Amino acid sequence: MAMANKLNVLMCGTGEYTTGWTGSGASKSDKKVVALTLFDLRRLGKVNKLGMVGVNGSKFPAIRSHLHQNIAQVYKDLDISFDGFPGDTEADPEAYKVAIDKFKPGDAVVIFTPDNTHYVIARYAIERGLHVLVTKPATQLLSHHLDLIRLSREHNVLCFVEHHKRYDPVYSDARVRARTLGEFNFFNAWMSQPKSQLETFRAWAGKDSDISYYLSSHHIDICCWILQDRAIPTRVVASAATGIATSEPYNCVPETEDTITLLVDWQSVTSPKHKGTAVYTASWTAPLRSGVHSAQNWYYMGEKGDINIDQAHRGYDVTVDDTGKAWYNPFYMKYSPSESGHFDGQRGYGYISIEKFVDAAGSVNAGTAQPSDFDARGLPTIANTVLTTAILNAGRISLDEKRAVGITKDGESGWILQ
Ligand SMILES: NC(=O)c1ccc[n+]([C@@H]2O[C@H](COP(=O)([O-])OP(=O)(O)OC[C@H]3O[C@@H](n4cnc5c(N)ncnc54)[C@H](O)[C@@H]3O)[C@@H](O)[C@H]2O)c1
Repeated sequence: MAMANKLNVLMCGTGEYTTGWTGSGASKSDKKVVALTLFDLRRLGKVNKLGMVGVNGSKFPAIRSHLHQNIAQVYKDLDISFDGFPGDTEADPEAYKVAIDKFKPGDAVVIFTPDNTHYVIARYAIERGLHVLVTKPATQLLSHHLDLIRLSREHNVLCFVEHHKRYDPVYSDARVRARTLGEFNFFNAWMSQPKSQLETFRAWAGKDSDISYYLSSHHIDICCWILQDRAIPTRVVASAATGIATSEPYNCVPETEDTITLLVDWQSVTSPKHKGTAVYTASWTAPLRSGVHSAQNWYYMGEKGDINIDQAHRGYDVTVDDTGKAWYNPFYMKYSPSESGHFDGQRGYGYISIEKFVDAAGSVNAGTAQPSDFDARGLPTIANTVLTTAILNAGRISLDEKRAVGITKDGESGWILQ
């Protein structure tokens, strides 16, 4: 592939998901999903120049050494170079603007920054003609989500939401099967992470986002994807458990909830008498040492059958004398190298999710596809994920105002919360 066809990508955010490095050192989960995937896509000829932007440039020496040790020294032929913004001695919360300005229309920006910053960064990039991949939750407000749909159409660029669970082979297979089970009746999802995450998330937990936005966004999106064009959410009531995050040793701000449950009414679009109920629960006060980083399971019941998924325990566990039993998920990211010593995780759904976006941006730039084509393919584009944000935003309002919140269609492509 000629150099001109390769995608230049700016990574926004230098944290756990992008580099595996948090302010206090290597994260225990050491995910480094975004940087590792993009370095490998560069090795495979799909990506060219890479940039990375955070707020505090003084983190870059530690990040580069972390990437050297955990990527360059582990996998063969991976070039881990990138342009860092701001400079190593600078701190600038608006460095994303300087960084985006160094890229050109048709380049791409992938956004893995705190939830409350997604919208402003995505908007700035889209307005300059760059394709955007924004992590979940795409935005916290429905109005911002609708704005990104409008802007991406106006500027004819891609805006994908990084809902990687849509590429999990179990979830995507289950989606197809669920849609053969007739009218929707009941969905129940649980997702949790251990209390120790409250230390990792201390900077923003309860202040800038909540555990529903952070974790339930995954399963709400899967439920919306299953029910796309079949049923619509009409009403959300939220309830929260509290008291652990705000106590010793976590001492999060008083507003921090431990466990949030959204109870959502769904209405069939083809049968007025068929209504369904969904319960989406997420917690960051789950037990320590449970053997999984993220517990995640859901149950779907339709008119003609049901589906049960336990995505945390997939029949693969490892027990080590010192640390006990753990369940691993190489279907998400496989970190063990190939027989030739190269990175070998190209079939993981964490990787595929980023590669799909890179390929889509490449085909738009080559003129072989239009951004709107990806809406029609059912991918997690900004247009196809609007109800996920509507439910999450309604849940937040319900908690804050202690009331039920209605979701109503407003015109051809709009939705409002009441
Ligand atoms: N960690 C995960 O497992 C995971 C998985 C999927 C999605 N996500 C999502 O990714 C996002 C970030 O998560 P994380 O775990 O990497 O967080 P993190 O706290 O480890 O890192 C956040 C990064 O964003 C940077 N940042 C903050 N404000 C910024 C700004 N204005 N401009 C540029 N950079 C800015 C910070 O400097 C930091 O490097 C969140 O929205 C989260 O929901 C995280």
